[in-house]
Amino acid sequence: MSIPNIAARIGCAGSCWIALLAWPASSLHAQRAPIEARHGLVTSASALASYAGVEVLRRGGNAVDAAVATAFALAVTYPRAGNLGGGGFAVLRLSDGRTTTIDFRETAPSAATRDLFLDARGDVIPGKSITGYAASGVPGTVAGLALAEEKYGSGRLAWADLIEPAHRLAAAGFAVTPALARDLHASAELLGKFPDSRRIYLRDGQFYAAGDRMVLPELAATLRRLQQHGPREFYTGTTARLIADDMAAHGGLITAADLARYHAVERAPLHGSYRGYEIVTMPPPSSGGIALLQMLGMLEPHDVAALGLNSAAKIHLFAEVMRRAFQDRAQFLGDPDFVKVPVSGLLDEHYLQQRMADFDPAHATPNASLAVGNPAATRQSVRSAADPAVAHESTDTTQLSTIDAAGNAVSITYTLNGLWGSGVTVPKAGVLLNNEMDDFAAKVGVPNGYGLVQGEANAIAPGKRPLSSMTPTIVLKDGKPFLVTGSPGGPTIINTVLLVITNIIDHRLSVTQAVDAPRFHHQWLPDAITHEPFFTSPDSVALLEGEGYTVSVRTLYPNAPEASAFTWGDAETILIDPRTGLRLGANDWRSPDSAAVGW
Ligand code: DON
Repeated sequence: MSIPNIAARIGCAGSCWIALLAWPASSLHAQRAPIEARHGLVTSASALASYAGVEVLRRGGNAVDAAVATAFALAVTYPRAGNLGGGGFAVLRLSDGRTTTIDFRETAPSAATRDLFLDARGDVIPGKSITGYAASGVPGTVAGLALAEEKYGSGRLAWADLIEPAHRLAAAGFAVTPALARDLHASAELLGKFPDSRRIYLRDGQFYAAGDRMVLPELAATLRRLQQHGPREFYTGTTARLIADDMAAHGGLITAADLARYHAVERAPLHGSYRGYEIVTMPPPSSGGIALLQMLGMLEPHDVAALGLNSAAKIHLFAEVMRRAFQDRAQFLGDPDFVKVPVSGLLDEHYLQQRMADFDPAHATPNASLAVGNPAATRQSVRSAADPAVAHESTDTTQLSTIDAAGNAVSITYTLNGLWGSGVTVPKAGVLLNNEMDDFAAKVGVPNGYGLVQGEANAIAPGKRPLSSMTPTIVLKDGKPFLVTGSPGGPTIINTVLLVITNIIDHRLSVTQAVDAPRFHHQWLPDAITHEPFFTSPDSVALLEGEGYTVSVRTLYPNAPEASAFTWGDAETILIDPRTGLRLGANDWRSPDSAAVGW
């Protein structure tokens, strides 16, 4: 990437040109100040949605109310990932010290079978779990937001009030941003396959340009029904009927009974510690929390700060803990309501020490010789697949973080899975549907859309929730909220959250520096380190290659000139300054429409 492209991207011209040229690449974003707020703050992938959340805070709502309003607004203004037709997870830390999580992950329809995506020969049918009706799980978002609100909302604003900003944006319309216009163009092939997606989002080929007003009347009507009749409307009312009828007409699996049966689940969070900080994170069916705590546990005995931010030695150490956590992910993790997940065994300090016993500071550990421990569980066999091509990630999931004046904090990651989910918009409901079924192991041992090789524990079963990598996380210091974070990015999510946390705790970066710093990733299979541009120096890469690693820039669009083509994640993060109590918001520079908004 050339310097002029960098300049264009951050909106610099003329006078700052010289300064840019003079900066070392690793400090390109080092000067960005966080948004400071005294009372409350919301950061999300859409400025309009962040404002919707802050408006709720200003009216006396708490962080949960604000998160609900933001999430509904994202379904309108950030339709590629914000959603009503998907699912996700929320981690909450309440001002009275309680912590909890809400699991609103999609479930497999009751007609789903283990071999749903296999042909007669037992091979995976390409695309079936990714595009179109069979790819969708039963959506959980509305139920999840409702459960969070019922139990932990302030009660000062009505449910309908929290949906109103979203309803207004959908009914009156909002200005299409350059990024949304670009996304719609880039997704024309997928959206063009389904008549309502083509009509609503592509205007039947008359593409939206930046600045055009996007009005979404069907979605506005759905939001209005939710305001009038409450969240169960989505599962038993007109919206449910529209979804079930569309499914039935197109060979989809989701029935009215599946929708009526759906419920969000409150689960106890995972708690861990790292260098005196308490980590509160998501339990299964997310793999993210376990993998995050495993990696932090494996890192704790090492002096990470002394290794330096992006030295070869640091990257080597991190790649090895990533490799081990992702191997355990593949072998042990799945929906805890269906399989026994040995959570405490996997997080046991001695197990983690044992896991790193074969760590060699001078060489990459070959996957084939990776020693494994036994966290008191039957080890599932994962057929060794040839290393798949490096999986491509984009920001097709979304993170929102909120905090209020009292210290309630919420981290939500929710998703349609892929960009625009299955591509289907339900006629008359205006709801885009997820393609979360691809997060199951369509065939045990065969990589999914993210190149993840998964085990028996994550095989498809009716009513089961597919294993996720989403890692909404809240870090506490001295019992008080310190960091609220999370990210999209498929499996890279877990490592993005790890890097944000260690960038702050070990490397003492500011919250914006921690979010902005280049990212790298290892996920066991494929056996490779991938990274964003400028992540380290060529001589460090040479050292890593000498240790046995394959190292490459991960690229979404190989021919695109801009840095954004090579980035991943969108770590919408809040840090609460322990000295001043100020809420410091860091939206992620990689996400063009994102904004941290405070008051
Ligand atoms: O739950 C998961 O792990 C995935 N469905 C998340 C997908 C995702 O983050 C896509 N964005 N890059």
